[in-house]
Amino acid sequence: MGKDVIIACDFPGREQVLDFLQRFEGEARKPFLKIGMELFYSAGPDIVRELKDRDYRIFLDLKLHDIPNTVRAAMRVLSGLGADVCNLHAAGTIPMMEAALEGLTRPDGTRPLLLAVTQLTSTDQMHLERDLWIREEMEEVILHYAENASLAGLDGVVCSPLEAPAVHKRCGTDFLTVTPGVRFADSAADDQRRVTTPARARELGSDYIVVGRPITGAADPVSAWRRCLTEFVDT
Ligand code: C5P
Repeated sequence: MGKDVIIACDFPGREQVLDFLQRFEGEARKPFLKIGMELFYSAGPDIVRELKDRDYRIFLDLKLHDIPNTVRAAMRVLSGLGADVCNLHAAGTIPMMEAALEGLTRPDGTRPLLLAVTQLTSTDQMHLERDLWIREEMEEVILHYAENASLAGLDGVVCSPLEAPAVHKRCGTDFLTVTPGVRFADSAADDQRRVTTPARARELGSDYIVVGRPITGAADPVSAWRRCLTEFVDT
């Protein structure tokens, strides 16, 4: 898969996401979609099957974190839905990540890509030390968790575009960096803290950008999506 823009479909239900996607009908390129907890929990697994039937590529952003046996079994279900990309928390440890890969692998040997969340972007150094009792520097923690994901055989991590160069240096250029926290130079940052433009994310070597509100909240979402593609993929 080459570089692409993944639209975060953070909608409360099926009707809203289908209304939104109607705007993209007739586009030569089919958008790559991210389904998160809100939509998955409200619309259920059928929303994944339905969007796959319509030929969308789906990143199922459910961030699993449980004992290896439970994660293996849950990943088998998600893989059966036809998801193209799944994810989990690297904090679940290497055995959990290995079990997840086993669960994702279909009888024919194919499987969705598997990404790890290293540290949530809402966690800062203070939370790391005060709540999690992790005393290392955030960047070192992120790189260590990325390395664990790589050792377990995962395909990449979800991280800030600003962390993409260091992750690629530590884990190799083929190890994917899928990066939220993207904003146009002339738009609001919302609650994202460390933001970059699609063009800057490209310069930093991000493999995929995840963009939500700058597209879903735009007056013309299709133009906003095309603008992301122009800056991130086609420049
Ligand atoms: O609207 P916005 O562009 O901020 O959406 C970013 C998307 O990426 C949201 O679905 C958010 O949950 C997700 N995400 C994130 N930061 C992470 C992991 C996921 O913003 N570290």
